[in-house]
Amino acid sequence: MGETTRNKKLKVTSLFCGCGGMDLGIQGDFNFLGKHFSELPYEVVYAADNDSYATAIYNSNFKHKCETKDVRDIIPTEIPDHDILLGGFPCQSFSISAQNPPRLGYKDERGKLFFEMVNVLKEKQPRFFIGENVKGLLSANKGKAFPMIVNEFEKAGYHIHYKLLNSSEFGVPQKRERVFIVGFREFDDYFKFRFPQPSTLNGSKVKLKQVIDTKADLDDKWFFSQRAVDGMLRVREKMNKGRVQDLEQPCNTISSHLAKVSLNGTDPVLMIDGKYRRFTPREAANIQSFPKSFNLEVVSENRQYRAIGNAVPPVLMWHVANALVECCSVEKPEVVKDKNVV
Ligand SMILES: C[S@@+](CC[C@H](N)C(=O)[O-])C[C@H]1O[C@@H](n2cnc3c(N)ncnc32)[C@H](O)[C@@H]1O
Repeated sequence: MGETTRNKKLKVTSLFCGCGGMDLGIQGDFNFLGKHFSELPYEVVYAADNDSYATAIYNSNFKHKCETKDVRDIIPTEIPDHDILLGGFPCQSFSISAQNPPRLGYKDERGKLFFEMVNVLKEKQPRFFIGENVKGLLSANKGKAFPMIVNEFEKAGYHIHYKLLNSSEFGVPQKRERVFIVGFREFDDYFKFRFPQPSTLNGSKVKLKQVIDTKADLDDKWFFSQRAVDGMLRVREKMNKGRVQDLEQPCNTISSHLAKVSLNGTDPVLMIDGKYRRFTPREAANIQSFPKSFNLEVVSENRQYRAIGNAVPPVLMWHVANALVECCSVEKPEVVKDKNVV
């Protein structure tokens, strides 16, 4: 993006890269709500995801390119050497909202995909790794899945810190809670690392109204039909549906379901002048803290919602990646030239 640097950067491999929320966050050098998130001393040298729509978005936003590939087909010896492995491994099987089918955790095929990260760690032994997942990971399989996963990472040779972080406490207009697992090959690094402290507590949290596009209020396309509203009202009392968001607060968690948002679901919606409205894909990206300059329009709106709903908020990731810089005395890039970045 806008800055160039002289210092050496740590090399990053990103598995399950999606549209690149983690990757943008770790590289830095982007703007969100008038704030610049500085370039960090990391560069992505290899990235892969099997969703071709997410990778199309990724490839239209980064200079380097990711591969559209099933991570189970990756041969660890064939990927570039790297210092950090990233993996927001698929979370559907751990999610509390995934009641139907029931939460299978690590017994589900998708719940086993973190083993692909373990395989790469065993072979490549990078200095760090960062894993990300839903809060439900901590309680999945009656609390057995998480210690088992940590144990597998330890057996690969890593010391583990983990923490549940709430995005809204880091300047993201969303209450999204995610577990970050940070692994260290060296005990010294492990000993020095501290998770970032919340930067935006109650009074200063970013409000949903700060990222709403009022132009969308003028377009019928984004409003639910009277039929959908009547249908929802019939079942609402029984089912507590119709999740209208408070514009004065950060938004509830958005997910890939936004592609199929309905008033009978649990997904957040807006109420504008007494009418129910869904978010536009751009608003979803804003809620996830992607910069305005992040290009979405290379795929259909449904595919944009899916990729964005799956992403790690770049601003949250930036804070975690910056904490890693602080602990490990990696040199911050020297900014040579600072252009305007949108
Ligand atoms: C939680 S999302 C990752 C989000 C991404 N790290 C980001 O920050 O934008 C999980 C991703 O895993 C991908 N995925 C699921 N199964 C996969 C597989 N077998 N091989 C590669 N990618 C897979 C999905 O397409 C999805 O993009």
